[in-house]
Amino acid sequence: MGLGKPDNCLLVIFGGTGDLARRKLYPALYNLFVDDFLPDALQIVAVGRRFFTREGFHNEIVLPSLKAFSRRASNPDGHFASFIGRVHYFQADLYDQGGYTRLRQFIEELEEKSGCQGNRIFYLAVAPEHFGPVVRSLKETGLVPARGWQRVVIEKPFGHDLPSAAELNRQLRAAFSEEEIYRIDHYLGKEMIQNIMVIRFANTFFEPVWNNKYIDHVQITSAETVGVEDRGGYYDRAGALRDMVQNHLLQLVTLVAMEPPASLATEAIRDEKVKVLRSLQPLDAAAVSKNAIRGQYGAGEIDGQVVPPYRQEKEVAPDSTTETFVALKLFIENFRWAGVPFYLRTGKRLPVKVTEIILQFKSLPDILYFKEYGELRPNLLVIRVQPLEGVYVQLNAKRPGNNNYIVPIRLDFCQNCEVGVNSPEAYERLLYDVMRGDPTLFTRWDEVEAAWRFVDPIAAAWTARPPLFPNYAAGQWGPPAARELLIRDGRHWWQEDELLPERG
Ligand SMILES: NC(=O)c1ccc[n+]([C@@H]2O[C@H](COP(=O)([O-])OP(=O)(O)OC[C@H]3O[C@@H](n4cnc5c(N)ncnc54)[C@H](OP(=O)(O)O)[C@@H]3O)[C@@H](O)[C@H]2O)c1
Repeated sequence: MGLGKPDNCLLVIFGGTGDLARRKLYPALYNLFVDDFLPDALQIVAVGRRFFTREGFHNEIVLPSLKAFSRRASNPDGHFASFIGRVHYFQADLYDQGGYTRLRQFIEELEEKSGCQGNRIFYLAVAPEHFGPVVRSLKETGLVPARGWQRVVIEKPFGHDLPSAAELNRQLRAAFSEEEIYRIDHYLGKEMIQNIMVIRFANTFFEPVWNNKYIDHVQITSAETVGVEDRGGYYDRAGALRDMVQNHLLQLVTLVAMEPPASLATEAIRDEKVKVLRSLQPLDAAAVSKNAIRGQYGAGEIDGQVVPPYRQEKEVAPDSTTETFVALKLFIENFRWAGVPFYLRTGKRLPVKVTEIILQFKSLPDILYFKEYGELRPNLLVIRVQPLEGVYVQLNAKRPGNNNYIVPIRLDFCQNCEVGVNSPEAYERLLYDVMRGDPTLFTRWDEVEAAWRFVDPIAAAWTARPPLFPNYAAGQWGPPAARELLIRDGRHWWQEDELLPERG
């Protein structure tokens, strides 16, 4: 960060008592406050249904959230008190027009007192079915247009399929222009995701070989050890394809595969990303059954703990056919990537928590000299997104000694392994960018649209053929078909233990 303070503004958080606000938004705002990145006059108005006095809201919601989830959970120089001095609570029901009218009066008075200059951000941290009605009420009750600039932040999921996403977009556009809509994909706020473009476009090493002449294939893994926790109701309607692939994983594909943008301007970058999504080879029903694998976890063990099957999670149907695991093989039909498979996998209750991107380079010709002296490993470039953040290159080198034995070695850069490195949370960067009016790390409508266009046929083919679930035990890397997806191509997933034995 470090780009200075944004304009003064007022931030309204609908869903200000909810899980997302408590776990992510208040801690991120607090960290920005500690670093002096917040606008001087910023006021935060949390809206919720429940009754709280302002003090009660601070003590029961905001302070516990900062202590539990901020990466700076301490209170140097009384920062907690100064921060919560900017946080207000407003009780209102999202479906009560009178509530919006009162909120408008409340906000106008606050703007007057604080010098927020009429600039307003509306953050919709509420369930997706409320997005449209809230935006409509904002317009009907005159909360928008604001006197200054106005922005709206939309959480995922952005629709359930293309028609519902298009309808949601239409509702948003009735009150906000495309430039004023910030669609969150919190993966884009992560440090190493922003680093992908730098690694690619600022190093002579990589860009010349970043294509189908030199890259054998790409693997993208986003694995979680947790189950659905308290979000079973939402997850059971969404599933891994909609919850992870449509947004986060396809966004990672765009960053790995995009052409160099003409400039670093927001729209130049987004233009290149959307071209990748439009170049995805569509999967018809036959391709889905071959190249799209789904799974659901049964009972199993993770880290020595016995865990229940998905179908016994809270708010999940006992006969649920929702997938908790997806593995996909996809192709990008353009000159750079033709013929290079991208293998994606994501799931819950997998053996480790990890998000990483691996580019496997093509092997050199099988030269006699090497064959006699050990097994040549392919060159790998590994971009580690979480929990470790860094980049790692695997090379072949000579083992020290009086022979020519060849062993794999690693050039390893780990950003957050060093003591004292405390990377900003994704939501810090994203909230800061909303305040600065920089939508580069948010998804534009045509990206969302193209991603649904790719995902919808997969979902439709799956709906047409009921699955045999559960098909993997918690603690395994998905069903056997996910492994076979690569084995039949003569490849394999780089498992955590094989790739990074030092981790743990
Ligand atoms: N939680 C996460 O980790 C996460 C991650 C990614 C995306 N998201 C997205 O973020 C959004 C919020 O999720 P969440 O987990 O924070 O939900 P949540 O914990 O269920 O919170 C819902 C919030 O909405 C408020 N609300 C619900 N109905 C209302 C009504 N009729 N009038 C006024 N307020 C109402 C609740 O207020 P009361 O408490 O006063 O009832 C509460 O503040 C969702 O779109 C979700 O998909 C969440």
